[in-house]
This record gives sequence, structure tokens and C-alpha cells, in this order.
Amino acid sequence: MAEPGKTLFIKTYGCQMNVYDSERMIDALEPMGYAQVDSPETADVVILNTCHIREKAAEKVYSELGRIKQMKADRARSGRPMVVGVAGCVAQAEGEEMLRRAPVLDLVFGPQTYHRLPQMMARVDAGERGLVATDFPAEDKFTELADPSKPRLLARGSTAFVTVQEGCDKFCTFCVVPYTRGAEFSRPAERVEREVRDLAAAGVREITLLGQNVNAYHGKGPDGAEWTLGRLIERLAGIDGIARLRYTTSHPRDMDETLLAAHRDVPELMPYLHLPVQSGSDRILGAMNRGHGADDYLRAVDAIRSTRPDIALSSDFIVGFPGESDADFEATMELVHTVGYAQAYSFKYSARPGTPAADHADQVAEDVKSARLAELQSLLKEQQSQFNAACLGRRMDVLLDRPGRKPGQLVGRSPYLQAVHVNAPDACIGEFADVEITDVGPNSMTGRIQARKEPGTAAHRDKELAL
Ligand code: 5AD
Ligand code: SF4
Repeated sequence: MAEPGKTLFIKTYGCQMNVYDSERMIDALEPMGYAQVDSPETADVVILNTCHIREKAAEKVYSELGRIKQMKADRARSGRPMVVGVAGCVAQAEGEEMLRRAPVLDLVFGPQTYHRLPQMMARVDAGERGLVATDFPAEDKFTELADPSKPRLLARGSTAFVTVQEGCDKFCTFCVVPYTRGAEFSRPAERVEREVRDLAAAGVREITLLGQNVNAYHGKGPDGAEWTLGRLIERLAGIDGIARLRYTTSHPRDMDETLLAAHRDVPELMPYLHLPVQSGSDRILGAMNRGHGADDYLRAVDAIRSTRPDIALSSDFIVGFPGESDADFEATMELVHTVGYAQAYSFKYSARPGTPAADHADQVAEDVKSARLAELQSLLKEQQSQFNAACLGRRMDVLLDRPGRKPGQLVGRSPYLQAVHVNAPDACIGEFADVEITDVGPNSMTGRIQARKEPGTAAHRDKELAL
């Protein structure tokens, strides 16, 4: 066991699932006497939870390790050792190789081994170095890490992530996820439900269900049947205290009837959907092994819009996939015009070692990728501004979840995931407010509180409190 008083710093890169995993690592290490600190200089243990999705993301880790090497050397001179570990998808993809490239590392461990972190740290405490753990599968991780008999030690505000599904069997030809996160695995519905109940009891009001392919969720239900995401959402919405549910990331092929029904029938399910399409060209979608064409995607969008007309859509795009011609790129632009997004992420294709597309002879030149990305991003930015502009003068529920930059200001989230700034005292953090939007910018909005709302019950929408 660590001496009480030891300190821990975790830096998280990449997606929300890494954020969730980092919190679980903290939960696992706190009972061993580790307290979190917010800078690596003062930490006895430094963990980088890494992302391998694009080359840039992976390279950031090595430059950070360069800085940490210096800190480790400075501390060693003053007789205070520092243990440095790398977790996450770079650790999984590179394993042993990382120890050679960055000798500052003491341990390298992949996403399916976090439940063994306490044992690994005990071995490090006993003087072992150069530990590598990169084995699968995910089942053990979830049984141990998010065991409902070990509820989260700390509530971390009014919003939380909960991983319900991890890994991917779809093997898009550009993507490392099936290799770094492994085969698709869904957590049993009962375990998810108990975790959400614990979070609600600790004051959490908004839950985002996470999975690389979250709408392919097929966890075992309490009745022994396989539950879909739609069914799970319906169950979670009934938990007292849970006022908002979201899910991310979805695949267009898995938008099933039960999920559409949840969007129609469950008021707690927010009107926002992140539905990555990657490209608008059938030829490129085929080469990406997405398993659907542009028309299938547009049909999925129509289906969800006819179920929930006010839904805001978001997506991911890749430009410069190998073999992408001007005409292919134009098809992507056309799809964006047709759909109209509230928000979106777009990236230049980045060849990832070990994925089929990386070996493609027909790589697109860097300057062509840059030009296409700029053109796409300017259209997406324009659409985002238009979406925000359409909110001017509207009233919407905002969950005030953090302090703003100026004193007396708080920031919250609209149902459509926009950041909304309001004037309100800190005491309102964690509360819902009915807010009139008075000003809009491309990335955030400003509003005036019309009424505070009682948080904490599914029926919060109907109960208004006097200001
Ligand atoms: N290059 C560029 N973008 C990628 N993404 C995944 N792999 C790559 C890659 N090799 C993007 C996809 C995915 C998002 C999480 O990251 O758009 O939806
Ligand atoms: Fe990667 Fe495709 Fe799986 Fe998404 S669906 S995680 S892009 S392989």
C-alpha cells in the first residue's frame, strides 16, 4: 500500500471515454492513499491517459513525456522519486515499444487493464519498473472497476459520463479503435442502472451514456433478454434525480426503432444526436467500410427528425481519405448542405499504422487535405452560427454546471449542448434555470434567468421556484 499522503496527477487526452476511465483510475487509487493534484511537478505518480486516434494526438504524448523526464530528474535530485505511467490507446497500440522510446516510463497499461491498477501500483511501490499490461478482454475491467458495490467516491458535479459499451467490431478502414479498445462489449443493464442511481444520489442530474458504438448497445437486461439502448434509456429516465440523458457516439447503421421511440417518448432524452457520417461520397464510404451509403444516412436523419423535429444534429467528417477526389469531397459538402448541422467535428485523414487504409497507394496530398478541411470547416461554422442565431429570444432549460470566467457568472448547457452564460450566484450551480437567450455567438450564447427550477426530480420541468 502507498503511504498516506502520496500524490497523483492524471492527464487525459482524447475522447470522453478516456475522461470516464481516468475517473475510474482515481477511484481505484484513492483508497490506496493517493490524493489528486493538479500539476505533475508535485506528483509522486504521473499517469498520461492517451489517445491514438490520429497521429497528432499520439505525438502529443511523447512531447509531454519529454517535459516530464525533466521533472522526474529534478525530483530525483531532491530525493523524491516520481513514478510515470502511460495508459490508454497509445499504451495499448505501442506496448513495450513505448518503454524503448521513452525510458522515463515505469509502466505502460492499456484500457482493459485498469481494474488491475492497484496491484500494478503495489508492484511499483515494491520497486518494480518497466511493467507492461496490454491484455484483453473488457469484461473483467467493468466487473471490477465500476462495481456498484464500490460506488464512486466523489460526486463530480451535476453531469457525469457512464460507459455502457466499449470497443468496436465495425472495422472502418481508417480507425484504430477496434485494435486499441478491442471487440464490442456491452455492460449488463442492471450494473449501468445501479451506477446511475449512485450518481443521482450524489447529485448528478445529467448523464451521458458512452460507447464507441453506443447505439449498438446490447447488454443483458434484468429479465435475461438483450436490451437495446432505447430500452436502457427508458429505464434510466425513471431514476429519481436524473433529469437529462444523452448518448454518444452513434453509428448510422444502428439507429433502431427502440431508440427512435425513446427520442419520441422519453422527455429526459435530450434533443441532440451525434451521428458521424465521415463522408458524403458512396465511393469513399465503401472504401471506409462504413456499411452504408449517403442515402442511408439521409434516411436515418429523416427518420429521427420526423420522430423528434427539434433535434440538433452533430457529426464527424474525415477529409482526404485515400483516393478522395474533388467530386467525392463535393459530395460531402452537398450532404452537409442537405442535413444542416448544429455542430460538427472535422479532421484531415491521418494514416494509422496497422489499419487497412494506411497502406493505400492513393494518399491525398497534405495541401489538398488542408484546403478541403478549411472549406468544410467554414461551412460547418456557418451552420453552427445559424443554429445558434435561431435560438435568440427563445427560452430554454439550462443546467448550470460550472462557474463562468467572470465572478457572478455561471455557465450551463442548453438541451442542444450549447454553452450558455448567465449572471447567477455560485449557489445556483447544479440547478436548472429557465433562461431567455439574449445574445448569441458562434461558440456560445448568453441568457437571462427567467425562473430557477427545482432540480432533482424527473418532474423538475413542471416545478418553478421563485427567484
Ligand atoms: N484520421 C482522421 N480522423 C479519424 N477519426 C478516426 N480515425 C481517424 C483517422 N485515421 C475521426 C472519425 C471519428 C472520430 C472520433 O475521429 O471522424 O468519428
Ligand atoms: Fe472506429 Fe468505425 Fe468503430 Fe467508429 S465505427 S470506432 S470509426 S471502426
